[in-house]
Amino acid sequence: MARQFNEDTLTAEVVKRLGKTKNPRLRQIMQSAVKHLHAFARDVHLTEEEWFEGIKFLTAVGQKCDDKRQEFILLSDVLGLSMMIVALNHKTLPGATEATVLGPFFAHGAKEFGYGGDLRVGCTLKGDDVWVSGRVLGTDGKPVPNALLDIWQAKADGIYDVQDPQAEFELRGRVKANAKGEYAFASYKPKFYSIPMDGPVGAMVKGTTGNHMRPAHMHAIVSAPGYEQVITHVFVEGDPYLDGDAVFAVKDSLVGRYKKIDSKKEADKLGMPNPFLKLNWDFHLTPAGKSKAKSRKAIAPSDALA
Ligand code: BEZ
Ligand code: FE
Repeated sequence: MARQFNEDTLTAEVVKRLGKTKNPRLRQIMQSAVKHLHAFARDVHLTEEEWFEGIKFLTAVGQKCDDKRQEFILLSDVLGLSMMIVALNHKTLPGATEATVLGPFFAHGAKEFGYGGDLRVGCTLKGDDVWVSGRVLGTDGKPVPNALLDIWQAKADGIYDVQDPQAEFELRGRVKANAKGEYAFASYKPKFYSIPMDGPVGAMVKGTTGNHMRPAHMHAIVSAPGYEQVITHVFVEGDPYLDGDAVFAVKDSLVGRYKKIDSKKEADKLGMPNPFLKLNWDFHLTPAGKSKAKSRKAIAPSDALA
């Protein structure tokens, strides 16, 4: 076994030692990570001070995390790594709803709502009332019965309930679609907002791109037995930040139109104030095992589907 290495021989030696790793996938990942990390250090000729700054930064990212705040997900998001991984793993069938970033604000255990449920109940900030409805369909266009839609979005001030330690769940719910694949709920129109800027990732964004805004969107995780789960967003047509999303998550196919409805009759029928907004949005799911790439494991509580 050799003992002495220089900048030209060190990488090969580390990669060789990692060759002893039993798990072949772990071996592949570790060897590749080391090759790229060393290449990066050589490329910029990283100094000791700079690497120590890097270590301080990563330490601060870890220290910012708790059971509500996930600064590492945020880091992955703003570096485009989250969307790179989505792109690699979600080559969906034509016509399927495209996947996008999960983000750091998903929470388990939100209240369940049936058809027409009101997600505005208990919300501490009012917004523009919107009736969201549509269907959950397979890529063949047939209704998918009994799907579960995990929905969450920021309040009108751009803050998520989970960002406020005192808050209960707000504008968040598990909406059950019916046997015909139809779902509906009342909520507020989402607004654009800034990603959290009070931590090390915010400081990094300030010192680099300055791109810290997310275009308005509603999050959805749609799950149904026999179909691949999709983690997605519905963006708002006309939003000023659709170009330049801090986390690169926009897809043209995910931009929805919020139509103004001025009809007392329709408002009364739906239990909405007049005027109100309407978003009609269908989700299209891929049958299990039919997508072109390996899909991620379901992350939403699929027990709720039972
Ligand atoms: C979000 O959409 O909730 C989000 C995604 C990435 C970073 C910050 C927020
Ligand atoms: Fe969001």
